[in-house]
Amino acid sequence: MRHILRGTILHTPQNPFEGGRLESFADGGLVVEGGRVLELGDYPEIAKAYQGEVVDLRGGLILPGFVDLHVHYPQVRLFGGLGLRLLDWLEHNTLPHEARFSDVEFARAQAKEFLRGMLRNGTTTAVVFGAHFAGAMEEFFREAEATGFRAVSGMVISDRNLRPELHVSKAQALEQSLELARRWHGRGKLRYALEPRFAISCSEAMMEACREAMQEIPDLYLHTHLNEILDEPDIIRELYPWSRDRVHTYEHYGLLGQRSIFAHNICPTDSELERMGAAKASVAHCPCSHAYTGAGFFPMRRHLEAAVRFGLGTDIAGGTGFGILKEGLEAYKMQNLMQDGVRLEPAHLLYLATLAGAEAIGVAEEVGDFSAGKAADVVYVRPAENSSFAVALDHARDQSPERMLAVAFTMCSEADMGEVFVDGRPVFAQLGIG
Ligand code: GUN
Ligand code: ZN
Repeated sequence: MRHILRGTILHTPQNPFEGGRLESFADGGLVVEGGRVLELGDYPEIAKAYQGEVVDLRGGLILPGFVDLHVHYPQVRLFGGLGLRLLDWLEHNTLPHEARFSDVEFARAQAKEFLRGMLRNGTTTAVVFGAHFAGAMEEFFREAEATGFRAVSGMVISDRNLRPELHVSKAQALEQSLELARRWHGRGKLRYALEPRFAISCSEAMMEACREAMQEIPDLYLHTHLNEILDEPDIIRELYPWSRDRVHTYEHYGLLGQRSIFAHNICPTDSELERMGAAKASVAHCPCSHAYTGAGFFPMRRHLEAAVRFGLGTDIAGGTGFGILKEGLEAYKMQNLMQDGVRLEPAHLLYLATLAGAEAIGVAEEVGDFSAGKAADVVYVRPAENSSFAVALDHARDQSPERMLAVAFTMCSEADMGEVFVDGRPVFAQLGIG
């Protein structure tokens, strides 16, 4: 079955931080066959060259499916924890709720809510921080598989400084992580990540469990929080007296590599950045969360200088919603507020929302832009009728594709998502949206 999606199409097949540019088609045609992109071009040429059912998506913007590099599935109900800094926010807003994920029914309902929220907002690929319970992770992976969602995720492990119900022994951490990984890692679009919550909640036994799991299945991912709070250096010095810095607590266990994804990294040392860059590790930049929890400013320029890869993460519910476009806007604003901030243009933001994330996960052969052969994961942004977004987007249409994209990053909300396609298949009806 062949479809041609017709409309204004934008993507960033090359990294704009390295000279790539926004590629745009004012009246474009995206040919989709067997769930994959066959060709992209100007619609008149595409229409001449290809037969197929035309899906008319004019009036909005067609973008690649978004990639969220850090988001918590068990926190889908926890938005709005105002007034708390991170560690208090965890203790009072978050962990009591996460402790209830031992109940698989409770977990299943939220796995569904979570995936619906992701897809409804255009995110088709994500690195997902899981629950502390194996049963809850089974539910998550099963639901993700059913929706066609591409996910890297795993059971969160910890053995100190949280609540006792969330603590596991090293043997449990290793056995349960490996059991889940054997079942789900590499199954369809799912991959497994070892997920020590953060070094503050893990003794060396948890890191050792991760090392041993990695020895057993060497291409597992590592996903955790790093350098999120400004006093983390002091806390880690106490908990890991031998460690040179925060990165060292992972490096020491062979957990710093190209499948390591660290959320935040607000206060890295130069040496940490250098080692992360050399190891090809990635960072999830979560600007809405940074502002909401008061974590701080992301040193984007230093990440670029050290060639440390980064993309965007919503970090819900430390963050403020599922929308990756909003993260792009917040990244822009926060860089603008910093003296040595990076001046971000619309193409940078789109790249960070799509291909950068795909590169960080190592799935850029599959998703991130509309190059031929990639999965047809597509977002159709369609401003709600009579909205101020519709007015501004119409006006921008006469100016430039960059301006249209800038308007979308500035004004698009959940209500402005017209449809999302996973492997070329529209998903809103199945999810009861629209
Ligand atoms: N550090 C450890 N756990 C969490 C969490 O749930 N959210 C955020 N933002 N940081 C964390
Ligand atoms: Zn997080």
